[in-house]
Amino acid sequence: MTATPPFGVNPEVARPADTHQVKVAGHLDDHWADWLGGHTLTLNDDASTTLTFAAVDQAQLHGVLGRIRDLGVDLLALCSLDDQPMNRPTDGTSPSSARALKATLHTERLTLRPATDDDAEATWAYRQLASVNEWLTGVPASFEEYRSSFVEPSRLASTVIIEIADDSGHHLIGDFMLRVEDAWSQIEVAERATGAQAELGWVLDPTHTGLGYATEAVLELLRHCFEELQVHRVVANCFLDNHTSWRLMEKVGMRRETHAVSESLHRSGQWLDTVGYAVLAHEWKRHNSTSRPTIKESR
Ligand SMILES: CC(C)(COP(=O)(O)OP(=O)(O)OC[C@H]1O[C@@H](n2cnc3c(N)ncnc32)[C@H](O)[C@@H]1OP(=O)(O)O)[C@@H](O)C(=O)NCCC(=O)NCCS
Repeated sequence: MTATPPFGVNPEVARPADTHQVKVAGHLDDHWADWLGGHTLTLNDDASTTLTFAAVDQAQLHGVLGRIRDLGVDLLALCSLDDQPMNRPTDGTSPSSARALKATLHTERLTLRPATDDDAEATWAYRQLASVNEWLTGVPASFEEYRSSFVEPSRLASTVIIEIADDSGHHLIGDFMLRVEDAWSQIEVAERATGAQAELGWVLDPTHTGLGYATEAVLELLRHCFEELQVHRVVANCFLDNHTSWRLMEKVGMRRETHAVSESLHRSGQWLDTVGYAVLAHEWKRHNSTSRPTIKESR
């Protein structure tokens, strides 16, 4: 998609324009770029679109936002690139490649570390199993296809590897998702909503399920989100039929917020219900101080 001059700007009288980015839900078609006045559209991996445009003043900015409203798409975030980029990357990387987990975390039994290209093979070993991928977004046809998506910077940046250790060393037993995103906000306070929410996801090798490892890892990621990343809210979603997944959300203190009926099409051809869970920073503190699940003796 190509960038064209900012809409409605008379070069004779234009003041220097600020560059803004708006993130909206869904993937917008190319032709909306012209209708919106000549923006750069970037389709993001998380099924959102980022529009980059220049506006000389608030009136022009509001004009663009009005057009976006008329499109009927959900506005997820707005920021001025001259102030602060979305997702608050602090290491000079682009938002999509900024890692939410930068250093290794340890729990009683587990090590949680950032993923590398080399983890593709070990995660494919269990992700290719039908029992594991039944509820996952997609099933790559081959290891090569899986690997090329696993090593994409935005995917690697949000993947956390779960390991156990024994006398023979560390063994990879799962890969979780930790993605920091902007909360929805009104324009005037958009900066405060930047990077204010995190989303979690999880996949364990089935030879290591039923031992409480997922609970232990999620509790540590919640601690990391609230204490280190200082997010306001953590969310997770799954199919209603994926009982083990939403029971895990409830065990770690997340609240069911949504139950959408026949919302999502499963590859079986059935329209299935989905549930959304969340926990706020103050709820997590209360849950953590009163009812933290205990880690039983390993079998
Ligand atoms: C979802 C998933 C990560 C859950 O893993 P899990 O191992 O079942 O999760 P848990 O950590 O909650 O452990 C489950 C059980 O181990 C038990 N357990 C056994 N030993 C334990 C120990 N030492 N400490 C704590 N719990 C222990 C727990 O009691 C728990 O049982 P309960 O649910 O009856 O309370 C796993 O099923 C998975 O990878 N599924 C496939 C991928 C998938 O669907 N991902 C989600 C997509 S939305």
